[in-house]
Amino acid sequence: MLIMESRKYVWVNGVLVESKNAKVHVLTHSLQYGSGIFEGIRSYSSSEGTSIFRLKDHMKRFENSARIYSMNLGFTAHELEDAVVEIVRKNKDRDCYIRPFAFVDDTRIGLGTQGKKISVVIASVPFGSYFDDKEKGVKCVVSSWRRINSSIMPPEAKASANYLNSSTASLEAKNAGADEAILLSSNGYVAEGPGENIFLVNGGKLLTPSKDADILLGITRDTIIKLAEFKGIEVEERNVHREELYTADEMFFAGTAAEITHITSVDKRKVGNGKKGPITRILAEEYSNTVHGKTDFKEWLTEV
Ligand SMILES: Cc1ncc(COP(=O)(O)O)c(C=O)c1O
Repeated sequence: MLIMESRKYVWVNGVLVESKNAKVHVLTHSLQYGSGIFEGIRSYSSSEGTSIFRLKDHMKRFENSARIYSMNLGFTAHELEDAVVEIVRKNKDRDCYIRPFAFVDDTRIGLGTQGKKISVVIASVPFGSYFDDKEKGVKCVVSSWRRINSSIMPPEAKASANYLNSSTASLEAKNAGADEAILLSSNGYVAEGPGENIFLVNGGKLLTPSKDADILLGITRDTIIKLAEFKGIEVEERNVHREELYTADEMFFAGTAAEITHITSVDKRKVGNGKKGPITRILAEEYSNTVHGKTDFKEWLTEV
């Protein structure tokens, strides 16, 4: 859970504001209708200090989300990157989750967003593991809720409203005694977790759903693909059938919050021997080393 202490600061439209004073009206358009876009970024501590992982890529996606919804952010991606560094520095936490959020800051009743004020805020909170016990892995069920698609709302935009689809799937999974859901795309292929992309390992090869499955194109997903290629592990991006979830040797989620978390079962069928598999182990370790500045992929790190 993200808990914001009142002594911390939030960047609000270019100004650092004490979090207790960073408030919105209850009738704010985005609060009522979900008309916000956001990012989830992590900073990590290393022996050399604190660095933010793939900041430029996150800000590019933030900008793209804004473009999809015709939101004028009023700041360049570069200015927002500087703002992220500023807030992490100001709040003095090292291992953080950073949340840039742009929203329709208008209290008038009415769905239209045309001409309405857009506000941009950036918060940072200390953050550890997303799942209760990452080392134990997660039990999953395939959700009866399908992932949104481009004919309904754009899955490639990281928009607040999308997450009602995600949290409904998560709720269903928890109610069924599982830790997390796996959503299928509207045409029945494996899409992703509610807030994570998914990877399968079969016969030593890595497999992940392609963009055609209406996934959010995750930055961790891209990182894993690149790290796998670097490690000489073959990667395939294609449509994945549901039953492949039942026959995979290994499986894991990849996301900024979830990092690399192995999946132990799907619909009560054990994945492999139910433990973290060897390829998952290699990639999780390489990922952890990379975000902590211990590999050659230093261009992904922005020093705070
Ligand atoms: C629906 C969804 N898919 C995938 C991801 C993983 O994306 P990333 O690796 O960029 O955090 C996220 C997390 O933001 C997400 O919300």
